[in-house]
Amino acid sequence: MPVKTAVLGYGRSGSTLHAGPIEKLDDFQMTAVCDIDPRALEQANKRFQCNLYEDYQDMLVKEDLDLVVIVTRSHQHAPMAIDCMKAGKNVLVTKPWAVNVEEAREMIRTAAETGTQLLPWLPARWGCDLKRLRELVRSGIIGRVFQIRRSVFTFGIRHDWQTLKECGGGYLLNWGPHIVDQPIQLAGGRVKSVFAHMKQIINPGDVEDMFFGMLKTEEDITVVVEHNIAASGLPDWVVQGDRGTIFVRGKQVEVHKTTFPETFDPGEYRNPVTISVGKEELTGNPYGDQFEIYVHIARAVRGEEPYAISLDSALNLSVVLAAIRQSHETGETVRC
Ligand SMILES: NC(=O)c1ccc[n+]([C@@H]2O[C@H](COP(=O)([O-])OP(=O)(O)OC[C@H]3O[C@@H](n4cnc5c(N)ncnc54)[C@H](O)[C@@H]3O)[C@@H](O)[C@H]2O)c1
Repeated sequence: MPVKTAVLGYGRSGSTLHAGPIEKLDDFQMTAVCDIDPRALEQANKRFQCNLYEDYQDMLVKEDLDLVVIVTRSHQHAPMAIDCMKAGKNVLVTKPWAVNVEEAREMIRTAAETGTQLLPWLPARWGCDLKRLRELVRSGIIGRVFQIRRSVFTFGIRHDWQTLKECGGGYLLNWGPHIVDQPIQLAGGRVKSVFAHMKQIINPGDVEDMFFGMLKTEEDITVVVEHNIAASGLPDWVVQGDRGTIFVRGKQVEVHKTTFPETFDPGEYRNPVTISVGKEELTGNPYGDQFEIYVHIARAVRGEEPYAISLDSALNLSVVLAAIRQSHETGETVRC
């Protein structure tokens, strides 16, 4: 039986990233679309044979749904998810699933109380770069990892609600679920402390468009995360081990592997180290393939396999994002 699904928020992301796989995969049936914008409903009406709603509470009362996909503005996610779960519906919540830790905790509590499934959407966990980096690190090719740097540099100027605090805008909540989460996953999952700085440089509105964070993990790995505006910049990833370094720029991966001399000459102030460079190209999407993820979502909603993203790890991400903001505001290192 296809998963009876509603998209709540048929905007840029809801009508593409989510409606795409729901439309194409036999696992799903688009049962309803809800949006307050009549133009969005008109678009949905042309594409799907489904019921249309302007009021999601009305939809929750009238529709028998296996899953509600919440893709509204960021500050709406948690309150809507809680309402859906209280109405007995499972929810997939786009990133950021919450604008603060309290909201994240309340969603988790509601899922437990109502016995519904709460599925956080963190597609970058399926990223082809993260997948390949995991394989390379596990192979031991660069030895013991001690530092990971994840950067995105872009001169992107936005003019939408993402520039407004009251809507949950800002680059930390927008990009953090991708580029703060990924290196934490690669490093082992747990952050001990955070020192961070944010700025509003070129975007309109009242939120940051740049953030820089230095995270220390329980495995004693330094994780540097950075979203910055620049015409070009550092590689997307620099993963440093005690036997080499991996660089990722777009789809290009370079593995710099060191070979130490078999014996050290104490007469030399420094013994020569040779470095070999291996190159390869990534295939796939660094921010995840939504079709692959949706096949998994169908299986998770049917109870055939556990959802790949634990609530604990999503909550942990919310804690780290809050710590980045707190460190910026106080100028102090924040323990997580
Ligand atoms: N790669 C990704 O995972 C990814 C990419 C883009 C956006 N997003 C996330 O998706 C969310 C939406 O972003 P977007 O760019 O699509 O925004 P958008 O403004 O294009 O879409 C939001 C939609 O929600 C609708 N809406 C607002 N209030 C509503 C209500 N009360 N009931 C029903 N519908 C309502 C709006 O009319 C609009 O159509 C954001 O939280 C963003 O972070 C995720």
